[in-house]
Amino acid sequence: LSDKDLQDRNILITAGPTREPLDPVRFLSNYSSGKMGYALARAASFRGARVTLISGPGNLKPPVGVNFIRVKTARDMFGEVKSLADDQDIFILAAAVSDYRPSHFSRHKIKKKDTDMKLVLERNPDIAAYLGKNKTSKQLLIGFAAESDSIIENAREKMIKKNLDMIIANDITGENTGFESDYNKGYLIRRGNVEKLPEMDKYKLANLILDQINK
Ligand code: C5P
Repeated sequence: LSDKDLQDRNILITAGPTREPLDPVRFLSNYSSGKMGYALARAASFRGARVTLISGPGNLKPPVGVNFIRVKTARDMFGEVKSLADDQDIFILAAAVSDYRPSHFSRHKIKKKDTDMKLVLERNPDIAAYLGKNKTSKQLLIGFAAESDSIIENAREKMIKKNLDMIIANDITGENTGFESDYNKGYLIRRGNVEKLPEMDKYKLANLILDQINK
């Protein structure tokens, strides 16, 4: 692996969860730590790329030398991605974007009642699908899929449906891998090609994914 093999490439990476507010004190979110996306940003920057990291809420420190953009909601993330999309060579979508948001945001804290309550949700934009539709033939689009069963088939289906060039399928059933963990395992899937990934730390996996770009 040559030292600065991603010199002058513009890479946009999404990371972390999104947070979908319900009222001033409550939100919908998920367990994503952002570790995979931050590891990708650090590795790509080290290899000479111009990296933009768009991250949802979390405690990780942004890697130095990276253009860091903090967002909260899926719609915020979508807006930032869209505004920077034309300038990018590569997109790596590692964010665990909330598929739904509360359809109504209450500006006042919602009071509890003695009865049950129903929460109405509406669909968030799918950033990956948008980029899949709008990318140019020169732009490379890489996604992730957190799967618990029929891992390869489900991930491949997502890759095709969203028009991704590559998808990394994470096996989230592993005890030591997936969300919040420093480790990952699964499969690296391209059109007509599946490679099994043994358990490895996320920085190593990040470099392995970046190795694919110049292949
Ligand atoms: O459909 P699913 O969420 O499993 O697809 C996962 C891939 O799509 C990931 O790369 C994720 O970052 C991306 N995605 C997105 N916007 C969404 C949902 C998923 O960019 N609203």
